[in-house]
Amino acid sequence: MCEPHVYILLAVQPLKGLILSGGKGTRLRPITHTSAKQLVPVANKPVLFYGIEAMAQAGIEEVGIIIAPETGQEIREAAGDGSKFGIEITYVVQDEPLGLAHAVLTAEPFLGESPFVMYLGDNLLQGGISDLVAAFREHEPDALILLTPVPDPENFGVAELAVPDAATPGEPGRVVRLVEKPEKPATDLALVGVYMFTAGIHEAARAIEPSARGELEITDAIQHLVDGGLRVEPHIVRGWWKDTGRLEDMLEANRLILDNLTERVEGELIDSQVDGRVVIEAGARLERTTVRGPAVIGAGAQLCDCYIGPYTAIGENCSISGAEVEHSILLAGCTVSDLDGRMESSLLGRNVTVRRGDRQPRAYRFMVGDNSDISIL
Ligand code: TTP
Repeated sequence: MCEPHVYILLAVQPLKGLILSGGKGTRLRPITHTSAKQLVPVANKPVLFYGIEAMAQAGIEEVGIIIAPETGQEIREAAGDGSKFGIEITYVVQDEPLGLAHAVLTAEPFLGESPFVMYLGDNLLQGGISDLVAAFREHEPDALILLTPVPDPENFGVAELAVPDAATPGEPGRVVRLVEKPEKPATDLALVGVYMFTAGIHEAARAIEPSARGELEITDAIQHLVDGGLRVEPHIVRGWWKDTGRLEDMLEANRLILDNLTERVEGELIDSQVDGRVVIEAGARLERTTVRGPAVIGAGAQLCDCYIGPYTAIGENCSISGAEVEHSILLAGCTVSDLDGRMESSLLGRNVTVRRGDRQPRAYRFMVGDNSDISIL
């Protein structure tokens, strides 16, 4: 006679990822008039891809990307189905950018009951998210938020922590209060744009009201978890973190990533010189040009009689002649010619043309939207 077998099925919810790539991007206009800010390249790679890669490295296989109706299509085209990152991407359209907590609610059908990592698509976090995921799995809190000390906490969401538990010396206390841009910050611990949640966040996001700026704030939803007695733990970031929402942050992110560049020259150098950490992609052609790294020159770029200074990323198929460019990002297809001064701390959109007329200023700073044509008279 057969013995009866008893099977116990343990349902372990897989960890999913949610990347927020909707929003308005007003602080990065005019670039964002024609393109998604999450696709602006940092060291010639879209900001968004750093977040996707961080998810893949942390072993997350299913990632939802929130997109806006206006810019969603180009994000779909850039990131595809996720196979090039070794993950599966599901796109979730958010009809209006009504806040980060609204984005979570919009993604509820995708997220279901799964715990998830939420990553703001215009943020960059050195060292990725594997540490954070490990801490979440080990401590099993209801939510885990990333914090970093900043010199100007009044410009961020700021966390107040409880007195650390005597049983766990050296570990910070739980989160007790979150305040968005406080006038008098109680701590210097700013919320970084990466969070980990259990499914309880959906109910919290449904329970809160829109803020004064008309958005469902994620800080309010997390505060709702805290007020309901749920365990919200902090995780202090050790490396750098950048929100690339403004021009200067984008240039700074470019600088930080280029600082870790590994030298690689695949393009053609004719009477040209490269110093330091420089990447020259295949198909690029440099003639009588000096590149002082860290810098990256994209595939198919044509540079003639140029000086390219540190912290510069030149996009694919740019054409630059008789110009000095430093600490700048040029998107694909730009043409810059005969500048007498130096272009610095600039961001040029796709296919921008900049050329000099008769006057000869010493330095130029630009923030130019896609397909512009500038003649300096
Ligand atoms: P933010 O930079 O806070 O907002 P924004 O993109 O509207 O930019 P700005 O303040 O310059 O107008 O958004 C952070 C990230 O979250 C960014 O990648 C856009 C995304 N986001 C959404 O996907 N949905 C939303 O409702 C909001 C507010 C932001």
